[in-house]
Amino acid sequence: MEKTIRLLSGLEIPKVFFGTYRIHDRDDAVEVVKNAVAAGYRGFDSATFYKDEDEVRRGLDLSGKRDECLVTTKVWNDVKGYDGVMRDFEESEKRLGGVDIYMLHWPLREFSERWRALEDLFLDGRVKAIGVSNFKKHHINELMRTARILPMIDQIEAHCRFMDYETIRFCQENAIAVQAWRPLMRTGDMLQDEGIAKIAARHGRTPAQICLRFLLEKGVCVVPKTVREERMRENIDLFDFSLTTEDLIYLQSLNYGERTAGDPDEVFE
Ligand SMILES: NC(=O)c1ccc[n+]([C@@H]2O[C@H](COP(=O)([O-])OP(=O)(O)OC[C@H]3O[C@@H](n4cnc5c(N)ncnc54)[C@H](OP(=O)(O)O)[C@@H]3O)[C@@H](O)[C@H]2O)c1
Repeated sequence: MEKTIRLLSGLEIPKVFFGTYRIHDRDDAVEVVKNAVAAGYRGFDSATFYKDEDEVRRGLDLSGKRDECLVTTKVWNDVKGYDGVMRDFEESEKRLGGVDIYMLHWPLREFSERWRALEDLFLDGRVKAIGVSNFKKHHINELMRTARILPMIDQIEAHCRFMDYETIRFCQENAIAVQAWRPLMRTGDMLQDEGIAKIAARHGRTPAQICLRFLLEKGVCVVPKTVREERMRENIDLFDFSLTTEDLIYLQSLNYGERTAGDPDEVFE
């Protein structure tokens, strides 16, 4: 399996990004980012909501490999309209020292105006790709009615316990890359599942690696987060084994529809 995927814009991105949500709570957040680069990550997932753009920038600068890395950030829900997004982008750009991938964080009602700002940022060459997050199939369909440019990525909640196949399939049919947020289910008990433990033992892998590989085999990119160096290496070491049909049948059977956050149809403001 390839380690990267090419977006509609032509940009090639790693299939495994490093999630940064909540690293801001730690005194060593900058070190965490630097360690993730050392562990092999070249894609970093930030957002204004995470309040960590400054730490991400400093960690990447310290790593000496900023030029090799891609950084995503997302505009939060309280930013309204075209001008609001443009102003917010400029703040993010300053804090990060450059944004590679820019996303709408959640599908608020008037997202077409907000999306127009992202399109202009892309057309002006200020970002290398634009995307959405938490958009279901019907949100993307609605966006398509007015969009000049299709989103290149949709970052949605996805893990063995929650797979929105309708949206995943729709994105794949439209060449929109799907990135799974919270692929390890964060605080859920998915990693303690006995069946996953058995599959992991059979492959000589960890439950986390099985859960992440499952997503990759479904054509979904992943954004795991960890502050521990050994787990950073583990979560990116997914490309030299594959799951059997039997494994996939079991992992698919765990799709209980268990979201860890709100349904995107309940608008967040
Ligand atoms: N677009 C959105 O709306 C949205 C929403 C939520 C998240 N996200 C993105 O998705 C990223 C990932 O989501 P998340 O951080 O909420 O959860 P996650 O990556 O599913 O899980 C992180 C948790 O799992 C632990 N962990 C990591 N690797 C492990 C391993 N190999 N074995 C056992 N435990 C492991 C971590 O603990 P340690 O750190 O102690 O290792 C942490 O508690 C975020 O950081 C963010 O970038 C996006």
